[in-house]
Amino acid sequence: MSSPLLIDIKFENSRKFDRLRSTLGGREVIDINDGGGHPETFSGVHYALVWKPDGKLFTRLPDLRVLFSLGAGVDHIFQSDYLPDVPIVRFVDHTLTTRMSEWVCLQCLMHLRQQRNYDRQQRERLWQELPQPQASDITVGIMGLGELGRDAARKLKTLGFNVIGWSRSGRPVDGIEVFGAGRLDPFLSRTHMLVGLLPLTSETRGIFNRDVFSKLHRHEEIASPVFINAGRGGSQVEADIIACLEDGTLGSVSLDVFEQEPLAEDSPLWGFEQAILTPHAAAVSDIEALGHYVARQIARFEAGEALENVVDRSLGY
Ligand SMILES: NC(=O)c1ccc[n+]([C@@H]2O[C@H](COP(=O)([O-])OP(=O)(O)OC[C@H]3O[C@@H](n4cnc5c(N)ncnc54)[C@H](OP(=O)(O)O)[C@@H]3O)[C@@H](O)[C@H]2O)c1
Repeated sequence: MSSPLLIDIKFENSRKFDRLRSTLGGREVIDINDGGGHPETFSGVHYALVWKPDGKLFTRLPDLRVLFSLGAGVDHIFQSDYLPDVPIVRFVDHTLTTRMSEWVCLQCLMHLRQQRNYDRQQRERLWQELPQPQASDITVGIMGLGELGRDAARKLKTLGFNVIGWSRSGRPVDGIEVFGAGRLDPFLSRTHMLVGLLPLTSETRGIFNRDVFSKLHRHEEIASPVFINAGRGGSQVEADIIACLEDGTLGSVSLDVFEQEPLAEDSPLWGFEQAILTPHAAAVSDIEALGHYVARQIARFEAGEALENVVDRSLGY
C-alpha cells in the first residue's frame, strides 16, 4: 500500500493545499495543520514535505524515509534537534530559478539606472537627467553559484553586465570567472554590485558584514557599492548594513531576506531611500510544480532510483 505524504506547511488558504493534492496522483495527503485530531505517532508514513516544521514533528514520524523541503533552502529543517537520518531533498525547479533571476536582474537594473533617484525626482516634479553608465561598466559579483546563482549569472551577462562569482569549491561555470572560497578579497575588490545567493550554514552566517562591504569597488556614477541579498537573512549583519548605508560604505541595497522575518516595523532599514526591500518574495515555490516534483521523486525512490537534489548533511546545503 502506498504511504501517505505528511505535510507541515502553514498554507494561507486551503486552495493551495487542494492544488498541491491534485498533483500527487491520488496519494493520501495528511495536513498536520488542518486543525484535525491527529495521532501522536504517524506510523507507516514514509514521506514528509515541510517548511519551517515544528521542531518535534520528526519524533512523531518513526517510519520516515524521505524528507522534502518546500523551498531550495534547508536551514529551516536543520533547526530541529530531532532530525532523523533520512535523505533530505530540496526543491529545485525552473519555475523557482526563473523567478529568482527575474528578481536579481530587476535589482541590478534598478541600481544601474538609478530608479530610486528618478522616483524621488518624480515626487519632486524635477526634470533632470542622471549619469548613465552602461551595464558593461559594472561588475556584478555573485556569492553562491548554485542552481540560482548560475542562472542569474547567465541572464545578467545577457543584459551586458560583467559577471564574476564566488563559491566554496570554486567549481568552473561556463562564461564567468569563478573565485574559490580562499579568494574572497580579490573577488570583492572587483565587484561593484554584490549579489548574495548563499544557503544559510554555520559557515555563511553573518558573512555579509562591514568587512566585506568595505572591500567592494565603488563606481562613481551610481549609488554604489550595491549589496543585493536573496539568499538568507542570517547571512547578513543588518546593524552593519544600516551603519554602512549611513556612512557611505554602501551606496544602496536590495534585500529580500532578513535576520528576523517579518522585518520589525521599527527597523531603520525601511527608511532608507536607497534600500529596496521585498518580503522574502524573490522566488516563491510554485505549489503545482512542487507537487509534481515531489511525486516524481517518490516514484524514483520507489523504483530504486537515486533521489535528486539531496542535501549534503555535512555541508548543510
Ligand atoms: N529569497 C527567496 O525567495 C529564495 C528562494 C529560493 C532560495 N533561496 C535561497 O537561495 C539559496 C541558494 O539556492 P541554490 O538552489 O542556488 O543552492 P545550491 O544549488 O545549493 O548552491 C549553493 C551555492 O552556494 C555555495 N556555497 C555554500 N556554502 C558556501 C560557503 N561556505 N562558501 C562559499 N560558497 C558556498 C555553493 O558552493 P559550491 O558550488 O562549491 O557547492 C553553491 O555554489 C538557498 O539555500 C536559499 O537559502 C531564497
